[in-house]
Amino acid sequence: MSYTIIGTGSALPARRVTNVELSDFLDTSDEWIRTRTGIRERRICTAESLDDLAEEASLRALASAGIGPKDLDLIVCSTTTADHLMPAEACAVAERLGASCPAFDVSAACSGFVFALDVADGYLERGRAQRALVLSAEKCSRIMDWTDRSTCVLFGDAAAAVVVSAGGASPLWTRLRTIPNVAALDVPGVDGASPLASAPAAAAPSVLSMKGRSVYRFAVTEVSRELRDMEDETGIALADIDHFVLHQANERIIEAVCTHLGLERSRVAVNLATTGNVSSACIPLALDGMSRAGELAPGETVALVGFGAGLDVASTLVRWEAGPS
Ligand code: UT7
Repeated sequence: MSYTIIGTGSALPARRVTNVELSDFLDTSDEWIRTRTGIRERRICTAESLDDLAEEASLRALASAGIGPKDLDLIVCSTTTADHLMPAEACAVAERLGASCPAFDVSAACSGFVFALDVADGYLERGRAQRALVLSAEKCSRIMDWTDRSTCVLFGDAAAAVVVSAGGASPLWTRLRTIPNVAALDVPGVDGASPLASAPAAAAPSVLSMKGRSVYRFAVTEVSRELRDMEDETGIALADIDHFVLHQANERIIEAVCTHLGLERSRVAVNLATTGNVSSACIPLALDGMSRAGELAPGETVALVGFGAGLDVASTLVRWEAGPS
């Protein structure tokens, strides 16, 4: 077992966008969005860059951990909506912080935080790093088709991070899975204008398309499977796990998993009402909120399950030992 989470931090754009505001330019309603998803509003970048949010979340996580940027041996950022195609978002953060450790990104869409945490775990376990910043930074608003009411109402922008330190009781379990299905949730890349291309550059815009119902079914089935397998393989009964932080795509998905597994809602984090789905930032954003609200006590267990484009599903069980200073 290789790490302890010693700090958390997050940052949101200033601009709140309510469901009613979306209905000014889309054929939708507050009632539809609230009852079908649980989302009431989301934060959308207007003046802020993703670099700004990522820097702010990182500084808060470092302050909460009581360490400075020079104490970091590694920065791993999960993102699929970075400000730069290159360098990595993590490099922009390193530059802003004045850190000089290795910094790179992990691309695993909404499951990205759990993938990034597992990458950091590997570095710590192998003795290649003592302290790592694991960050998720997502500006989903830049990949939305703002004329598609079935997707753009669901997402928001945010960054959130944890600092992990070598040694400790986490993780108690980790599993990453990919069940390939690109068309289920896809953002095509930008083709450019190479004169050597055999066909004219594809006209498909670089915006998100999603088969909502099949992703919904995938999520309920696979998140439930993850938690059942976590229980079987660790020998820790779901009844004895203190908190569940699932990817915040839709409150109905979370409710369906709770019903399936008999989990009381009081142990399951739900924070999407005011932020929407912020992709890989959902899980660390919830952790930071819970930690700062004093809802996580030392020694408690927290199950984290991400799912999304890939299709990926990623889960880990951590023992909480941190608390913001
Ligand atoms: O981060 C991981 C990725 N995202 C997800 O995990 C999302 C997973 N999927 C979902 O959460 C749900 O499938 C959605 C929220 C996307 C859609 O909810 P749904 O209950 O599955 O609705 P639906 O797609 O079956 O659509 C039902 C109706 C349709 O109208 P008709 O064909 O019945 O006339 C849609 O056109 O709702 C319509 N609709 C809307 N109406 C008002 C779709 N979006 C909207 C909207 N406002 N924003």
